[in-house]
Amino acid sequence: LSSIFVDVGGLEPGSQLTVSFLGKPVFLRRRTAEEIEAGRAVSVEDLSIDRESRNPNKPGTDASDANRTMDDAGEWLVMTGVCTHLGCVPLGNGAGDFGGWFCPCHGSHYDTAGRIRRGPAPENMHIPVATFVDETTVQLG
Ligand code: FES
Repeated sequence: LSSIFVDVGGLEPGSQLTVSFLGKPVFLRRRTAEEIEAGRAVSVEDLSIDRESRNPNKPGTDASDANRTMDDAGEWLVMTGVCTHLGCVPLGNGAGDFGGWFCPCHGSHYDTAGRIRRGPAPENMHIPVATFVDETTVQLG
């Protein structure tokens, strides 16, 4: 299995990197305090479309904000940047009605944790296998 290493040391809160991994875009976002707060304020029961974390790093867990992020503080969100409807790449940086990402192809709105909140997409954006190997380096795969 192949892995890549991504240096996220230069990312300020509220910014993200997109890298290509296994032929798909992967978003690595350093969330702002407001984004973290918005994500944590949502209970799993509020999620009407998908309640699974879709996170192989925390298998079988529900889609609480904490189960979607890499670190306990919830600053780091790493996910495959592919809409779970028909595979377009959603627009980020606070797009859509839930302050996260918006897929313009057919109008899917994702929240600040990349969870599908409205629109035709059936699942939260998927999370790849990922770990921090040191403070500023994420290993994908
Ligand atoms: Fe994203 Fe259809 S591919 S809404």
